Amino acid sequence: QLTTSTAQVLQGKKVVITAGPTREELDPVRYISNHSSGKMGYAIAQAAVAAGAQVELVSGPVTLPVPAGCAIHRTVSAQQMHAQVMHSVKDADIFIATAAVADYRPKQVAAQKIKKNNDELTLTFVKNPDILNDVANLPDAPFTVGFAAESENVEAYARKKLASKKLAMIAANDISQPGLGFNSDRNALHVIWNGGDKKLPTGSKMMLAEALISLIAEQYNKS
Ligand code: CTP
Ligand code: CA
Repeated sequence: QLTTSTAQVLQGKKVVITAGPTREELDPVRYISNHSSGKMGYAIAQAAVAAGAQVELVSGPVTLPVPAGCAIHRTVSAQQMHAQVMHSVKDADIFIATAAVADYRPKQVAAQKIKKNNDELTLTFVKNPDILNDVANLPDAPFTVGFAAESENVEAYARKKLASKKLAMIAANDISQPGLGFNSDRNALHVIWNGGDKKLPTGSKMMLAEALISLIAEQYNKS
């Protein structure tokens, strides 16, 4: 349940949210991607709209319906998502990065379908831009919230990302927990900011989204 104060804080604020995977083209018929249904990001977008925010969703390819009242920008590759986000965040108050961005893309995109002529195939990858890091380090950065999907040392790695990317807040999820995250409707989050933290226990992504939006409003209001 949204408290009045969440809605008071977020009323009319511009919130940009990334969601879903990116796809990195390899040849005309293949791509490299990440597991991501987009459910967490879309639920956060819906919760932000419900709190009265003006929401822009920058989304990779997912099959979800766009929450009512959300503006949508559809992107495919990490580079496209990066370009759209850098444009959308110019006048944003809050940025929330939930997208499962491919860290690397194939160095070369083959013009023709790669044939199975050899027993082994070696690909070279180059690093993609870090969208979250680039937004958080803008001179006039919005209140920036990252996610951290970790399979071990969850809290330690999340705290490291909070500090190294200069984030206002990070929501960590333990991807080793069976039945949570990725394509599931349920998740659990450990939300950490400078000066505090809160564990949001296992629940529906919609419930977690509302709880996270409340925490964001609380800390944004103090910033
Ligand atoms: N992220 C991003 N752009 C990238 C990579 C990640 O915006 N190119 C964002 C994700 O949306 C997430 C956060 O950064 O909010 C953390 O992503 P994660 O994969 O956990 O961390 P990385 O910084 O990519 O580090 P690593 O994969 O090595 O753990
Ligand atoms: Ca990554």
